[in-house]
Amino acid sequence: MTNRHLITDVTSLQGTVEIPGDKSISHRAIMFGSIADGTTTIRNFLAGEDCLSTISCFQKLGVTIQQDGTNVTIEGKGLNGLQEAKELLDVGNSGTTIRLMTGILSGLPYHSVLAGDASIAKRPMTRVVEPLRKMGANIEGREQGKYTPLSIRGGKLHGITYELPVASAQVKSAILLAGLQAEGQTTVIEPARTRNHTETMLQMFGVNVNTNDRTITIEGNQKLTGTDIMVPGDISSAAFFLTAGAIVPNSRILLKNVGLNETRSGMIDVLLAMGADFAIINENHSSEPSGDIEIATSNLKGTEINGDIIPRLIDEIPIIALMATQAEGTTIISDAKELKVKETNRIDTVVSELTKLGADITATDDGMIIKGKTPLTGGTVNSHGDHRIGMMLAIAATIAQGDVILEDAEAVAVSYPNFFEHLQQLMK
Ligand code: S3P
Repeated sequence: MTNRHLITDVTSLQGTVEIPGDKSISHRAIMFGSIADGTTTIRNFLAGEDCLSTISCFQKLGVTIQQDGTNVTIEGKGLNGLQEAKELLDVGNSGTTIRLMTGILSGLPYHSVLAGDASIAKRPMTRVVEPLRKMGANIEGREQGKYTPLSIRGGKLHGITYELPVASAQVKSAILLAGLQAEGQTTVIEPARTRNHTETMLQMFGVNVNTNDRTITIEGNQKLTGTDIMVPGDISSAAFFLTAGAIVPNSRILLKNVGLNETRSGMIDVLLAMGADFAIINENHSSEPSGDIEIATSNLKGTEINGDIIPRLIDEIPIIALMATQAEGTTIISDAKELKVKETNRIDTVVSELTKLGADITATDDGMIIKGKTPLTGGTVNSHGDHRIGMMLAIAATIAQGDVILEDAEAVAVSYPNFFEHLQQLMK
């Protein structure tokens, strides 16, 4: 565990950041390229620990994947080209890897075992195991399939119609990836729209998938054909610098190539609602839209965040909480119980760590209440092994008056390996 002495009381942030590739899209590009027929190339791949876990799992299933920094080439031989793994498939810290792979492996005629780190061992798996069992999958796991390790004996599947009890793109994707291999049609109905990268990218691989508002339908027995994927920057990574630009005095920063898919862009709505001084430029309207965002020090005001916007910014809530400590008035975040089952219980970790730095923040059953504007002080804080908590605390340190020590700082490598370098480059 590495501790990091963070630079505090920064006078200004100035400059440009190239936002690294989107984590959700990078995972899917590896997975779909691995089950497709023919060559897939990926550009601007996120070489973070989570996506490297996905590569290593598919290599264990016999897929030839070459990764050179942000460039990846996959020689796919179709779903039937995957082979039974000789060892356990280790997903590390990655919920997306384990949940989506469970969907894929449920239809493949051999035995697979999936497990990950101590955080993965606490995360709920019933949400994928239950619908996949309804499709005919054979999955076992600790406590009747509630938790890892998961053991899958793949086989024949049949389509289902399933109403998701929670708004989760991972669960939706697992069902669609099983549905792709099933007899008949599979329909997933979401309680609120979640990120649609699976649907968008499956189409790029030649798969028919239909979306009608919150209902997604896929026909069984479809094949994927290899393609070229360009990954846009991750708005969930950009969110840390969007916040930094808005809260550090005398700042102006340009974030290049930020993914702006509307199922992910709740952060932009929050910046608008809080009165941030920003502009989106050079927009690219491809199937995964992107653009550059310029942001400057802002007079922020509190806001209420709840309802259908929550899945559109679920991973940004830790950094939004920090931004709210620097806004005039009260910010109330609710309908966000899902935070409790992320890499950490993010209601607890955000509240406990920001409280140590002097924030006025209270946990509720489904969110948090933050009162601003509060000056932050020094202190010793801990990422709890959660990449997004680590990065949020590093941005908090830039405005803290006093030394901040961040324990377990290396967790940031899960989604943003050069985060600290990028932050350092902006400090003037
Ligand atoms: C993800 C979906 C979300 C998100 C996670 C990535 C994905 O999780 O929090 O970081 O790539 O599908 P849930 O499906 O649990 O909401």
